[in-house]
Amino acid sequence: MPARVPRRMKLGLDRRRYERLAPFYDLLELPMELVAFSRWRRLLFAGLGGGRILEVGIGTGKNIPHHPGDTPVVGVDISLRMLRRAKARAERLGRRVELVLADVEALPFRDGSFDAAASSYVFCSVENPVRGLEEVRRVLRPGGRARFLEHMRSENPLVGALQDLLNPLVHILGPEINRRTLENIRSAGLRILRERRLLTSIFRLVDAGRR
Ligand SMILES: C[S@@+](CC[C@H](N)C(=O)[O-])C[C@H]1O[C@@H](n2cnc3c(N)ncnc32)[C@H](O)[C@@H]1O
Repeated sequence: MPARVPRRMKLGLDRRRYERLAPFYDLLELPMELVAFSRWRRLLFAGLGGGRILEVGIGTGKNIPHHPGDTPVVGVDISLRMLRRAKARAERLGRRVELVLADVEALPFRDGSFDAAASSYVFCSVENPVRGLEEVRRVLRPGGRARFLEHMRSENPLVGALQDLLNPLVHILGPEINRRTLENIRSAGLRILRERRLLTSIFRLVDAGRR
């Protein structure tokens, strides 16, 4: 583990940031997990079973308990330390997940090789989110589904402006809080099938499909 390490992977700031964050990630996220995240995670894989699934930015593997039991899941992440934690969690839970060290902007998979894809809180961090989402579309089979549990820029102009203002500060720690993820999904050529607002327009569960 990981099963495959791509020959060329950029050692960008995002990767180093998450390598550093990995040992503390679960602890730092605990308050949000208790308030809402763990409840929303249950929605991420519901109904996606029955084929081969890609989980992008699997992190420490917090979604593993919700992977459909009968479906092979491949989890990718740019951080090896995150993947090590995901591996330990999968072992503790007795779940099989193929873990691959990979950048979503250059996925080491063939076109159309997945039936479904999912991510939670990832496209706020990916350096070029449209490029990453294009890769998700490429590896999905025609008719395949992608589900994104993501936070993004609010549609309320005042809140959005506040997010723009705070973004440089928050980004020092990790994610960007003003990404226009719905637009990015569309720009990547995926079709929005359903959008569910979980907390205002900031936290959303988005179903998209490859034509
Ligand atoms: C905020 S964490 C979310 C982790 C996990 N999905 C969760 O819900 O707890 C973002 C994750 O995305 C990963 N990541 C960031 N950029 C990436 C990229 N370009 N390719 C793959 N993974 C990436 C990070 O290493 C980190 O594990």
